[in-house]
Amino acid sequence: METLSALLYLVASVCFIMALRGLSSPETSRQGNLYGMVGMTIAIVTTLALPVVQSYWLIILGIAIGGGIGYVIANKIVMTALPQLVAAFHSLVGLAAVFVALAAYYQPEAYGIGVRGAIARGSLIEMALGTAIGAITFTGSLVAFAKLQGLVSGKPLVFPFQHQLNAALGVLTVLLVLWLVASNADAAMWLIVLAALALGFLLILPIGGADMPVVISMLNSYSGWAAAGIGFTLQNNLLIITGALVGSSGAILSYIMCKGMNRSIFNVILGGFGGDSAAAGAAAGGGERGTVKAGSPEDAAYIMKNAQSVIIVPGYGMAVAQAQHALREMADQLKKEGVEVKYAIHPVAGRMPGHMNVLLAEANVPYDEVFELEDINRDFQSADVAFVIGANDVTNPAAKTDPASPIYGMPILDVEKAKTVFFIKRSMASGYAGVENELFFRPNTMMLFGDAKKVTEEVVKSME
Ligand code: TAP
Repeated sequence: METLSALLYLVASVCFIMALRGLSSPETSRQGNLYGMVGMTIAIVTTLALPVVQSYWLIILGIAIGGGIGYVIANKIVMTALPQLVAAFHSLVGLAAVFVALAAYYQPEAYGIGVRGAIARGSLIEMALGTAIGAITFTGSLVAFAKLQGLVSGKPLVFPFQHQLNAALGVLTVLLVLWLVASNADAAMWLIVLAALALGFLLILPIGGADMPVVISMLNSYSGWAAAGIGFTLQNNLLIITGALVGSSGAILSYIMCKGMNRSIFNVILGGFGGDSAAAGAAAGGGERGTVKAGSPEDAAYIMKNAQSVIIVPGYGMAVAQAQHALREMADQLKKEGVEVKYAIHPVAGRMPGHMNVLLAEANVPYDEVFELEDINRDFQSADVAFVIGANDVTNPAAKTDPASPIYGMPILDVEKAKTVFFIKRSMASGYAGVENELFFRPNTMMLFGDAKKVTEEVVKSME
């Protein structure tokens, strides 16, 4: 049985690796998902068949309660609230890691890692690390959830000696781990939990709105390492492998996002960056502005029909309005008129990694028309029209020109280089980072005020 389960775990691990590989590109993502589902089914069935499982009742009860809650949430959740849902789920992974470690600490015999008060050293290290990472993930994810849900301000909450306090807590946690390993003292275990809970809270509190994407993927990575920690405690190889896969892919994603936003990962981790800083907003709001030109869907239809090339820039507003299908219809019409249509995707457009790609794929937009920032940015200068639908921050030139701006340094889509720029949005309001967009006042910009789906449908109607 042991050899068979090891073999099946190996097959499941390979499925997970294939899943990650598949999910790395929109063309293969469905296949990737399928690999993930097959791998998870093998993993669950194999684990349930292990001889250590003595009773199924508690497991069935757990699956019924957890599955029931998951089912209701999955049916109710709107796409735009997914980031906070992911943060909330990460917090549960962290909490589970703490609970499993505490259970093993108080009943080491059940886990075959020694007896109470004399647990094997190696196991104490694994437990302490799993607990610390799990507790940091738990409170950090709760703060991220509260920020994304708008329960607390997205501004970076900074106070004097913050970095010193975080560093002191980090050092304290390491010392407590050493104390635990040397003494097996209960107090050390509980103090690790408390110090790590405080650290998770303090680490995420100062991170501002614009850097939340990196935080989400970082917490994703932490939750993976916490799961790997549980894997060591439970001596379950598959959990170790899966946790390590989630941990390392989350870390790679954080790195890619940091690169996309031109941030150093240490700046983000140390906090205090990327908020909707009032000062920056005020500075941006105070300067000389032009007038705002508002156009109609008919104007947009006429100009685009007579264009040679149109680049569409989708953002969060497209997701809110669910305008992707109307947008595809518009692109189809334009293509019929012989206009070249491309889509430009910013790495942090929307509210979660790949958000725009998912929506465009849902509307069956051909993959070869969709380009990443670095592959399309040069094309704006030769484009007739940049059609910005519900995007704002990802086009804001303050990222290039205003060092006081919270988004300063983030690469942006150079839409202003197109001959005409259309912005579909409902008002003059700023985007997620709270920074005014001076492009709205430029002479080559035309605002199309209204809900993204409604306006796009009207553009399509006018074209017909
Ligand atoms: P934003 O800068 O947030 O701008 C979206 C715009 O859409 C808003 O200005 C809003 O203006 C408009 N809008 C909202 N609902 C609309 C509707 N129904 N119809 C038409 N327009 C609507 O979005 P972005 O350009 O995609 O940038 C993303 C921002 O989110 C970045 O700051 C990024 O750092 C942050 N963020 C990203 C992620 C990830 S991983 N992608 C995660 C968390 C945060 P009106 O209110 O005037 O309509």
